[in-house]
Amino acid sequence: MSRLVVISNRVALPKQTQTGGLASAMNAALQEMGGLWFGWSGNIAAETGKELHEVEDGHISYATIDMSKADHDDYYSGFANRALWPLFHYRADLVDYRRDHLEGYLRVNRIFAKRVAKLIRKDDIIWVHDYHLLPLAAMLREEGVENRIGFFLHTPLPAAGLLITLPRHRELLEPLASYDLVGLHTQRDLRALEDYFLHELGAAMRTGGRIRAANGRIFRAGVFPISIDTAEAVELAHRAEDSGAVAKLKASIDDRALIIGVDRLDYSKGLPERFEGFARLLRDHKEMRGRVSLLQIAPPSRSDVPEYRSLRRELERSAGHINGQYAEPDWVPIRYVNKSFAHKVLAGYFRVAKVGLVTPLRDGMNLVAKEYVACQDPQDPGVLVLSRFAGAAQELDAALLVNPSDLDEVSEALKRALEMPLKERRMRWQSMMDVLERNDITTWRNAFLHALTEPPRVKPEIY
Ligand code: UDP
Ligand code: G6P
Repeated sequence: MSRLVVISNRVALPKQTQTGGLASAMNAALQEMGGLWFGWSGNIAAETGKELHEVEDGHISYATIDMSKADHDDYYSGFANRALWPLFHYRADLVDYRRDHLEGYLRVNRIFAKRVAKLIRKDDIIWVHDYHLLPLAAMLREEGVENRIGFFLHTPLPAAGLLITLPRHRELLEPLASYDLVGLHTQRDLRALEDYFLHELGAAMRTGGRIRAANGRIFRAGVFPISIDTAEAVELAHRAEDSGAVAKLKASIDDRALIIGVDRLDYSKGLPERFEGFARLLRDHKEMRGRVSLLQIAPPSRSDVPEYRSLRRELERSAGHINGQYAEPDWVPIRYVNKSFAHKVLAGYFRVAKVGLVTPLRDGMNLVAKEYVACQDPQDPGVLVLSRFAGAAQELDAALLVNPSDLDEVSEALKRALEMPLKERRMRWQSMMDVLERNDITTWRNAFLHALTEPPRVKPEIY
């Protein structure tokens, strides 16, 4: 059987808690089938990619490289996280494009390509991940790599009208045609890709999701909604019931209801709106005061980027303001926690919480929504309140779906969730759990790899 080579900026090295969907998902996806995982070590060094750090853990081999401060600033904090991330999350207002950041992005992609090309064997299947590495396949091809190469985008892909606002967008997006398969989370993202290729790049649609790029190369694009290791989440939540962490949380909430949110501290997650939505519930429904708390876990993320630092200040102000307004000596409305927790601890917290509040303004998928559902007690499940603008809403349509900017709608959904009869909670939960049992991380991985390897690569059509 061919070896799988995963390439991504972020790598979930053994025994590290990584707070991001890509790391969670690929860690789960590689556990069973093994392979090589190549990417950034997470460390800064004098030079990018000078040394290769190799670690073996079970049947996964990890090969990582350090990054120079300048490359990290231009490629990661700069172009990836100040241009592509906001643009892909429909925040054109936050895009800070700089030519030297883009040059750094291309430079680091080139180093990745050169470094990993040396590790690739003839029969390997290569799977590249996310917006950090859009042009990687084209660069790998220049290094002589002829293997099948797939790409998966973990973020949304915005409409062509927005994509074209990015300077030199063609240079970044046209190389996607060098992949054999491009995977996206939702139909909306796929439509955006097709539309952009057809109308901006002069490509043509072929049958079976194939796109013929202007240079004649044919690649495929498809929808593959990422998922979680459902069975493991169920097991973790079950085991966590007797854990010390859960006992402490339960004791601290007494007989009050708990609403939980778990997100990287990122402006795409709609956290200020979420705090305001919760405050609206307390404002409009006095009977809820003293009876319900919001536990918001928000580990800091990308703190070199100014927008993330100002978001942190904004949330501190907002939580302080709301708590100051409504708290009582024996009750605090918002418990705001800026640190990360391991999955086994989160699983227990999810199970205790009556409501999972997941309200990103935009999100590729949002694995937390899926984890919350999988961690519920089937006899007495909690309710998921979910943003319509998370990819997860396409599959988890039995959640209470909200527009996160509509504070009244969020407040009403919270009230409804907190008062929902057991029968309805069970019905909604079962319907979402069916989805997660059908489409778990293994189904997702296999579907993508199947599409990447079968049927055989189509020869470019002759015209
Ligand atoms: N996560 C975690 N510990 C934390 C916070 C988050 O392990 O303290 C995990 C979470 O369980 C999920 C992932 O990080 O698996 C977040 O993925 P999601 O798709 O929800 O959002 P992303 O961070 O990728 O935007
Ligand atoms: C999102 C992105 C991932 C990224 C993760 C955490 O899930 O799609 O590519 O790894 O956020 O962000 P970070 O910048 O810490 O890797």
